[in-house]
This record gives sequence, structure tokens and C-alpha cells, in this order.
Amino acid sequence: EQIEKSGYEHFMLKEIFEQPKSVHDTMRGRLLVDEGVIKMAGIWDHIEKFKNANRIIIIACGTSWHAGLIGEYLIEEYARIPVEVEYASEFRYRNPIITDKDVVIAISQSGETADTMAALKLAKERGAFIYGICNVVDSSIARITDAGSYTHAGPEIGVASTKAFTAQLTILSLIALKLGKHNGNLGNADFMSLIAELDAIPKKIEDVLSSTHELVQNIAKDFVQATNFLYLGRGYNYPAALEGALKLKEISYIHAEGYPAAEMKHGPIALIDENMPIVIIAPKKGHYDKIVSNVQEIKARKGKVIAVVNRGDTQVSEMSDYVIEIPETSECFSPIIASVPLQLLAYYIAVYRGANVDQPRNLAKSVTVE
Ligand code: AGP
Repeated sequence: EQIEKSGYEHFMLKEIFEQPKSVHDTMRGRLLVDEGVIKMAGIWDHIEKFKNANRIIIIACGTSWHAGLIGEYLIEEYARIPVEVEYASEFRYRNPIITDKDVVIAISQSGETADTMAALKLAKERGAFIYGICNVVDSSIARITDAGSYTHAGPEIGVASTKAFTAQLTILSLIALKLGKHNGNLGNADFMSLIAELDAIPKKIEDVLSSTHELVQNIAKDFVQATNFLYLGRGYNYPAALEGALKLKEISYIHAEGYPAAEMKHGPIALIDENMPIVIIAPKKGHYDKIVSNVQEIKARKGKVIAVVNRGDTQVSEMSDYVIEIPETSECFSPIIASVPLQLLAYYIAVYRGANVDQPRNLAKSVTVE
């Protein structure tokens, strides 16, 4: 096992550090920047299904569901196809309306999650075209779907998903850009600049890992005794906030909630006092001015702000108690980068609390029971 961990103390840390490579592997052979194309056989062979789809329904659980939410933003923004994102467990039990004009995409790291599998079977029975985004090759979901794309992130051993999540976001980015280019909703110039941005993501993750690793460890030390956390983000980074909160609760057993930042004033603001740590994802591109006022509201109530900002940021940084800087990218790809320090934060808080990071209590890597 020590050899498999390649010198890292836990699989989770190893997997966090593998992300420059795993994201690159997800894009390999698919994103051909010089030729200006995205090659994805699974999509291309069934392009008419996607082109004629009334809507795309994404079904998943847990972290994969968070990836699905970001997929919704991506596909609606660039391909202009309506998308709904559903928890597989809710979808399958509520007699959903499904037609043969629907494309149902299941996202699952393991490809074995029982609820996701059952929801897919239901969609198939009702005539939908079913597509899988799985990490584990030849898994049950990969086998029952009509087509799909593997994430190629490599085996993920830590129960808390890290590199599979960023690989899912990468695949969803590729799908959204490919569909948008094909159906004419994404112009060539924008397509070219977006694929160049996407191609640069592995380097930017590498940069985040080296520039924030030590800093995040130090921040984590100050929150070992915390009992609650709020995670806030807007737009594409709202699901990133949900995912940051899930990581923390899974492995450190600290109660954490993710919220769209604007929803704060509809309830969670009542919780804010000097004992409430609030992680806020605030990149430049992405409703920055609105986030600035959210931070002002938090500071007026003495909440402790840990801000994830772009390098060179001043406004949010000056008001925040802790600042984690990440490089800039297009808003749609920013969750891939912003998630990395949040994974590290959850990891180190859990380690300092003496928790079993790779095998958290009560959790299984893949939930094969209903
Ligand atoms: C992620 O950290 C969790 N362990 C969990 O939410 C997981 O994402 C969920 O069970 C779905 O698993 P799957 O992607 O293998 O279907």
C-alpha cells in the first residue's frame, strides 16, 4: 500500500496532486488545439441525438451530481440546449416525464452507484438515449449506456472524490464546447480561445498545488476546532461551493453547508458570527462585484472569511481574514481550479483532527445499495 501511495501519506493527497496529469489525460486525444477540434467519438457517433434533443437530463449522486450542475451551466451557455440536473434517487422514484427526444447523461466515478444505475434503466425503458460519463472502465453503467465518454482519471482509491470530479468537469467542458461548435451557438473565435484556455488548465492546477499547498496547511491549523463552515460561490462556482462543503463534512466530520452566495441573505446569514468560518470563491470573472457585497455583509457580522481569489485581487482580499490566490481562467473552467485548494483545506483539517481520511466512517467508495 505504501508503494501505491507513492510517498504520500494518504491516497486522497496523492489523488489531489495527480490532478494536473488526470485532467490532461482526460483531454488527451480529444482536445486538439492546433487543429482547432475536439474529437469525441461517443458524441460524434450520435450527434443527431444531441442535435435533436429537446433537453438533456443529467443524473448522478454526490460529487458527480455537483459536476452535473456545472455541466448544466456549461451546456446551456455554449450549446444552448436546455439541461436539467437530478439526483438519481429522486428521479427514479417520482415517475419523471421522459421521451425519446431526451438525452439522459449519467455521471458516475465508479459506474456502479445503484440509484444512478436504476435511474438510467428507467430512462432507457422510456425511450431516452442514455449516455455515460464514468471513470471505471467496463463498469455496469458504462455497459448499459448507449454511448459514453470515460474520464480516464485513473483509479481513485480515497473515498472522497477529488481527481474524478475535476476529470468530470473536463469531460463536460469538452462536450459543451463540442456541441456548441457543432450546432452553431459557439462561434469559431470563442471556441478557439476557450479550447486554448482549457488546454492550459493542467498547468494552472500545477501552479495552484505548488503555490497554495503550504498556505492551506497553515489555514487548516486555525480551523481544527471549528464546528460549522459555510461555503459560498456564484454562477459556476456555486456547485464548487457545494463540493467544497461536501469534502469537508465527509472526511473531517465538521458540519458544512454550501450555498449560492446570493441566497445567504435568505437564511444562512442568521448563522454568521465571529465563530463562523466562511469559504468564499471569488474569481474576477464571475459576478465579482456581487461577491464583494456578500463579503461586506459577512464582515459586518464578524464572520471569518477564507477567500479564494485571483492573483492580484485587492477588494475581496483586503476584507478577508485568509486569502488563497489562484490563476485566472475563463469563468466556466474556474471551478476546476478553485476546487483544488478546497480539497486541500478539507484534507488538512481532517488530518489535523486525526480522522481516517481515506476511509471515513459510515461511507463506502461506491454506494451499491439503495
Ligand atoms: C464523493 O466524495 C462521495 N464519496 C460521493 O458523494 C460520491 O460522489 C457518490 O457516491 C457518487 O459516486 P459515483 O460517482 O461513483 O456514482
